Amino acid sequence: MTRRQALSHARKLLATNNIEGASLEAELLLRYALKIDRIQLYTEPDQGLTPQQEETYRHCIERRLKGEPSAYIVGHREFFGLDFYVDKNVLIPRPETELLVEQAIVRSRKYSAPVIVDVGTGCGAIATSLALNLPNARIYATDVSEVAVNVARCNCQKHRVQDRISLLIGNMLKPLPESVDIIVANLPYVRTTNLPQVNTIGFEPCLALDGGADGLGIIHQLCIQAKDKLLSSGCLLMEIGMGQGTAVTNLLHDIFSQASIKIILDLSGIARVVCLTLPSY
Ligand SMILES: C[S@@+](CC[C@H](N)C(=O)[O-])C[C@H]1O[C@@H](n2cnc3c(N)ncnc32)[C@H](O)[C@@H]1O
Repeated sequence: MTRRQALSHARKLLATNNIEGASLEAELLLRYALKIDRIQLYTEPDQGLTPQQEETYRHCIERRLKGEPSAYIVGHREFFGLDFYVDKNVLIPRPETELLVEQAIVRSRKYSAPVIVDVGTGCGAIATSLALNLPNARIYATDVSEVAVNVARCNCQKHRVQDRISLLIGNMLKPLPESVDIIVANLPYVRTTNLPQVNTIGFEPCLALDGGADGLGIIHQLCIQAKDKLLSSGCLLMEIGMGQGTAVTNLLHDIFSQASIKIILDLSGIARVVCLTLPSY
């Protein structure tokens, strides 16, 4: 079988089984099985696969057809222009979370050396992106999952920011040794009853998705913890789910009566990030 035939066969198979982006997914899996880049794939389309390569590719396609996300199959995913190692212990970073990183960068610029925490760091994509874009920042990254923190450690080393990011295991802000200027958080916000509708369910860790009965249980706890850990003029930035803007704004108003609260929309007009800024005392 040639590369061209392998690609065409898998594209059809994935599309017939309603896999979104079947064409790109087939290409990603073939490149992974053959260990080649895009240019090699398209400049030498008539090269044949070895029996071992055919077997690896077939196995990848089978896994994808069973619903396993391609990022877990190939072991990495791009986020904020950087490549991150991922496995089943961490949520696969989503493109919509890049807005949270952009906002954190903009708000950190008023500090010469901001102290930042990424809460629920998962694979460490947010903390690493911030470290690389804010060379003077000192960054903490926390997660309650020890196995997730191990993945974050791999990514900090991969991007050579291990000396700039302190990884801490524990409940949100509890392990922090000091107060911070900026809190950034993409915490679980899916209602427990909606979990079966998440198309990666059974593959991504529930701990990374389940936000409790109303989806806001963990976000609410973070807002309470932030009261003791956010410095004057500091900023709390949280990603939220669709339709959660008003509820999160209300709970923030109850806890921080003096703060200014802003909702930031993504490019599709969906309320995606809540930004709270404390007054200077
Ligand atoms: C939605 S995932 C986000 C992962 C990563 N920040 C990203 O954006 O790709 C939420 C993360 O929060 C972590 N988490 C859940 N409950 C937590 C808690 N109480 N304290 C700290 N981390 C928590 C999960 O283990 C998971 O890694």
